[in-house]
Amino acid sequence: MRSHEIRIKFLQFFAQRGHTIVPSSSLVPTDDPTLLFTNAGMNQFKDVFLGLERRSYTRATSVQKCMRAGGKHNDLEVVGHTHRHHTFFEMLGNFSFGDYFKEQAIEYAWELLTQVFHLPPERLWITVFKDDEEAFRIWNEKIGVPAEKIARMGEKDNFWAMGDTGPCGPCSEIHYELHPEKDCSLQDENCDRFLELWNLVFMQFNRDENGQLHPLPSPSIDTGMGLERIASVLQGKFSNFDIDIIRPLIEAVEERTGLNYGENEELDVSFRVVADHIRAIAFLISDGVLPSNEGRGYVLRRIIRRAYRHGRKLGIYEPFLYSLAPLVASLMHEQYPELKDSLQLVEKITRMEEQRFHRTLTVGMEKYEELLEKLRQKGEKLIPGEEVFVLYDTFGFPLDFAEELARERGFTIDMKGFEEKMAEQRRRARSAWKGYEEAEEKRKYEGFKTRFVGYETEEGEGKILAIFKGKEKAPSLKEGEEGEVILDQTPFYGEAGGQVGDTGWLISSSGKAKVIDTKKPSLDTVVHMVKVEAGEIKQGQRVEARVDRERRWAIRRHHTATHILHKALRTVLGPHVRQSGSVVEPERLRFDFTHYEKPSRQELKEVERIANQAVLQDYPVITEVVSFEEAVRRGAMALFHEKYGDKVRMVSVGNFSRELCGGTHVRRSGEIGLIKIISEESVSAGVRRIEAVAGLAALSWAQKLEGSVKELQERVGVPFSSIAEHVEKLKAQLKEARKKKAAPLHVDAKPEVIKGVNVFALKIEGSREEAHNLVDQLRKKHPPAAVLVAYLRDGRPSLVLGLTEDLTGKIKAGDLIKEVAKEIGGGGGGRPSFAEAGGRNPQGIGKALEKFRNILREKL
Ligand code: ALA
Repeated sequence: MRSHEIRIKFLQFFAQRGHTIVPSSSLVPTDDPTLLFTNAGMNQFKDVFLGLERRSYTRATSVQKCMRAGGKHNDLEVVGHTHRHHTFFEMLGNFSFGDYFKEQAIEYAWELLTQVFHLPPERLWITVFKDDEEAFRIWNEKIGVPAEKIARMGEKDNFWAMGDTGPCGPCSEIHYELHPEKDCSLQDENCDRFLELWNLVFMQFNRDENGQLHPLPSPSIDTGMGLERIASVLQGKFSNFDIDIIRPLIEAVEERTGLNYGENEELDVSFRVVADHIRAIAFLISDGVLPSNEGRGYVLRRIIRRAYRHGRKLGIYEPFLYSLAPLVASLMHEQYPELKDSLQLVEKITRMEEQRFHRTLTVGMEKYEELLEKLRQKGEKLIPGEEVFVLYDTFGFPLDFAEELARERGFTIDMKGFEEKMAEQRRRARSAWKGYEEAEEKRKYEGFKTRFVGYETEEGEGKILAIFKGKEKAPSLKEGEEGEVILDQTPFYGEAGGQVGDTGWLISSSGKAKVIDTKKPSLDTVVHMVKVEAGEIKQGQRVEARVDRERRWAIRRHHTATHILHKALRTVLGPHVRQSGSVVEPERLRFDFTHYEKPSRQELKEVERIANQAVLQDYPVITEVVSFEEAVRRGAMALFHEKYGDKVRMVSVGNFSRELCGGTHVRRSGEIGLIKIISEESVSAGVRRIEAVAGLAALSWAQKLEGSVKELQERVGVPFSSIAEHVEKLKAQLKEARKKKAAPLHVDAKPEVIKGVNVFALKIEGSREEAHNLVDQLRKKHPPAAVLVAYLRDGRPSLVLGLTEDLTGKIKAGDLIKEVAKEIGGGGGGRPSFAEAGGRNPQGIGKALEKFRNILREKL
């Protein structure tokens, strides 16, 4: 039975029994900070189990994309070494939310396996949780499974939990007896007589942060059967890697390498790793994950690197994983059409990441070989841990790779030294951690609460709760003094979510203070950084709090512009674009987002056009406080790593953009004015940064630009439209002039005559072109001639060497320059009569010229 048929039969079986077929959710959980990747079919129903969310149905069934790499359920290191484990896999499941419970769940599972999939009942074995008498009785008495085929297991095996917190409960597993001839039992850890097929979880509890179990509102059912496992049974295979949707991947690798799977266990591991990982890679990228150095992106990076290294074990020394992506798409697209849509993206990202890693390995390997060579010469066999650490730390050279290579060459790594360096670095990182001091510093604000009223107004009254001078509390601040002021309520926005803090004034009956900045050390405390301009302000006083209105308005424009640009970027570049950081200021905004390549000028123009179109539509900007679920349902973009409470603030720009955000915004998009992107650059792999200006800041930018243009026009003396052309002309003239000037300077140089040959060894101040010209002219003018010209190219020493043809029998320019270039710390090569070289050490030029003459004295 083909895997796709199994999916359909499973869903149909449960649909016929009143279950709603629910599509797989993304591998990236949308609203669950406790979870790295979707790891089970029940994830998307978590809140339904907890009673926090109601659906229109109480029974559901699904085929769910799952990842078990990173997080609580992590199989990454095992994958490849077994026939059963995967990073990416599919889970068939049926769910009951307070509807049926144990008995019905067990009956359904039994019926499906024995009546629909026709598995022989005598091959099915059962495990139950040791205290679950009820489950035992149902299996034994209702279903008729003999008591000796039901094993009672402990919490480790038969109590399932999604994560450290959340829904959980005892479970019962159905195992298939693969090898009746073996005589180990279900309790034996390493027994491969049985294959765990289907897990039925009797969801009864919610585990809180303290590990306490609380009963769920109503007992529920969550089941999961690995598609790859049931497919292996139904297709008569002993390995998941032999089923219809995986084996072709192994075959593709066989074809690529010319090796055969199944002949060498060590290579087989690599075959399986590659086949497994490319599936995970394709699905992760198509769900919007990009390689990076943290979180989900880091797991993806590790998976790509692991697969790439196993490729090397199979003899592939170049990027290749990407070329398997189309096969994954064609094997899986029946169930997951999104794979076809994102195929190009998957190929591109995978290839780029492979290339990156390839470079890392090549550079690291070179350094490593040098190191080993040095040790060999000294007759040492132990590689200092410190050296390996440097490679690891600065070049990203993987430790296990270093170990493997060491083993192959008969070396060992001093692991203790390595660990010591590693620990030292961790200590350094900890003490350099800014957060520590900050956290300490924040402690002084504890207990002071501020109500923020600045969404509605820019002016208000508040009472001074506390004043700080440095770390200490103070009763007052006098003229000229700086300090921090906390009010019971304030219209000042404290820096948060990328938006800078407000400035303005606090005015009391006895004094006036300028607010230089505003901070928000905790969710409900706002701190004004002030300098008293006149009189004195005192604790307990009431003050008038006045935000610098102009500035606040400029910030509002830039903040709403940020949301609009975010949406426009997603529209133009694709839905994988996600915010990864932002700064919103009165003069500009900065926005970092995930994207795999430099956007073209055309794309950026389109982004600007869409953004400004949204401004001109003059959409109302509405903020609402809603439940997180509602926000997500209505399509609000939430940031991955943000933690959100039950209630969130949702900012909508018409129907154009919807984001969760705590910042201040304009009332209608038309108030923003022009939005103009003024720069674009790369921040790190896969992350781009744009800067943009809006409103009056956009006007200033345009005026500045106009000023520069005018000045340019005046200086060059031609109208703007022909400046570019004119500058080209000037450049050409300059070049001409230089040529004329430089060449004759040396053409008259006097040769040193060595054994009848005119030898020139010169250093010039000139370009590469001039050096070439000079070599040619001297060669022509003084045959037989050997000419070496040195010059600096962007500060780096460079050499040009020419010989007349009659000398090339005795000596070759290419060989000669290699020797000479050593003096400038470089290398080069070329034809018998002409060669070039570059180096790093300009101080060596004199020596190089000298060596040139010496060699000629010897060889001519
Ligand atoms: N959620 C259960 C599991 O993943 C069914 O095993």
